[in-house]
Amino acid sequence: MGKRAAAEAAALLVEDGMRVGLGTGTTVAHLLPALAARHLSIRCVATSPETESRARALGLEVEAFSALERLDMAIDGADQVDPAGWLVKGGGGAHTREKIVAAAADRFVVIVSEEKLVEALSAPIPVELLSFGLRATLRHLGDARLRQRPLSPDGGLIADWHGEVGDPAALAGRLSAVPGVVDHGLFPPGMVETVIVGDGDGATRKVKF
Ligand code: 5RP
Repeated sequence: MGKRAAAEAAALLVEDGMRVGLGTGTTVAHLLPALAARHLSIRCVATSPETESRARALGLEVEAFSALERLDMAIDGADQVDPAGWLVKGGGGAHTREKIVAAAADRFVVIVSEEKLVEALSAPIPVELLSFGLRATLRHLGDARLRQRPLSPDGGLIADWHGEVGDPAALAGRLSAVPGVVDHGLFPPGMVETVIVGDGDGATRKVKF
């Protein structure tokens, strides 16, 4: 109920003519029909093949993210949101593309149910890794476990890092500095414009960052 309410509220923020980034996951699965129902003239890019095929099936126009250099808005879910606006993403293993899309957007709108709000971020923190040198990369990372799942659409392996998060900025820097890490699931508050939180009764509230 909370996911759907947040997704439907986000769909109302989209305006005719916008270039829109579509995230990945069960919350975004509620966004797509709500967006399609508005019959707007918009150009979308998708952060995963799953989102792309769902969006296309609903009649949304989805294009490859190679021709566009900027987006007006990106809308995506999250696994955790802390009080400062740090996110953990990548539960679906799509965080690398999701971060590229969020960073390209003038406005990044995050849609979550209220249980995603946490006092402090905690593991697991998703990471995407190159297969070249995989064992060495895992050794550098320390406590990281590979997920048993297919490669990402970009050929990466998805793993989860299981240490103490502490300061998210410090951890983000540490994970980014490990050669072989394509990207990690920590998204900084500076990337986030609004978090729309849906509760169990279908009410929503917006938190601005
Ligand atoms: C996928 C993601 C998702 O946005 C995140 O896992 C939240 O998923 P859901 O909406 O299914 O709860 O980051 O990589």
